[in-house]
Amino acid sequence: MIDLVQRPRRLRTSPLLRKMVRETRMDPSSLIYPMFIKEGEKIKEEIPTMPGQYRYSVDQLPRALEEVADAGVTSVMFFGIPGSKDACGSGAYAEDGIVQKAFRKAKETVPELYYIGDVCMCEYTSHGHCGILDGDYVDNDKTLEYLAKIALSQVQAGADMVAPSDMMDGRVAAIREVLDDNGYERVPIMSYAAKYASGFYGPFRDAAGSAPSFGDRKSYQMDYHNRKEALKEVFSDVEEGADIIMIKPAMSYLDIIRETADAIDLPVAAYSVSGEYAMIKAGASLGYVDEDSMICETAVSIYRAGCSILLTYFAKELAKFMKEGRIG
Ligand code: PBG
Repeated sequence: MIDLVQRPRRLRTSPLLRKMVRETRMDPSSLIYPMFIKEGEKIKEEIPTMPGQYRYSVDQLPRALEEVADAGVTSVMFFGIPGSKDACGSGAYAEDGIVQKAFRKAKETVPELYYIGDVCMCEYTSHGHCGILDGDYVDNDKTLEYLAKIALSQVQAGADMVAPSDMMDGRVAAIREVLDDNGYERVPIMSYAAKYASGFYGPFRDAAGSAPSFGDRKSYQMDYHNRKEALKEVFSDVEEGADIIMIKPAMSYLDIIRETADAIDLPVAAYSVSGEYAMIKAGASLGYVDEDSMICETAVSIYRAGCSILLTYFAKELAKFMKEGRIG
């Protein structure tokens, strides 16, 4: 036997020991499951680019939410798909808007879950951009008024938390102000603080019918060459009063998650987006990779990078793997 002081394999000799020394710990309460709610009735349609994910009409929602709760997931985020769109996305803040109806129904039928609203305009505007247009440019300051209205209407309909995803400057402050002015000072804001202009959103835009009809989102979402700029975005959202900071997408941005987690004291969330989901589904359906292993390894890598909250379309599967002790 050679004289070795360090034998790292000593801590890998049994499953119980390996579990005891795990450095990354997580449980299902840290998962948020994104869902798509569509105008109409008796709709549960599978999203072609996201097999296993569905668009639901409001009447189908209680059953879907019960499945989420049964799986051990405690929080969901709603995206609305309206029946009609216009230039200023009025469906996003209408009292009988799709997402407002969804919050009311959800709170009434499955009150034990925690409900989050994505605050954005792209699913509701006829041009598919995340704000109000001035020519071809998204007008930042005019958009803020609308985002504040959207956030307020979601909270009035029952949302427990709002999450602005538009990437306009100053929107956290604008939303905080309108919520406080209306007596909702207890409702937290989870800011999509560093959101990159990403090819990984492709399947989502298909799911929500929210692709921009011209141009792209690069004048508001971040350039993926940039790292320091992400911290600038994060710090300004912290100063404006964000309660939780989100980084999006997750898998190609683990460095940003780590730096953010090291730099701030707020909870950090990461959104593993539609393209990340679709890649694993596609690879597994071809038999190239094992689906469950990929779900576990990618999710743990995102937590290991420093987030404590994960938004993912695999939330139900992950809750099961966590409960079984396969991860977590
Ligand atoms: C709305 C929004 C998008 C996503 C979340 N909120 C789409 C986009 O910015 O184009 C993407 C989520 C996903 O890909 O899973 N702005």
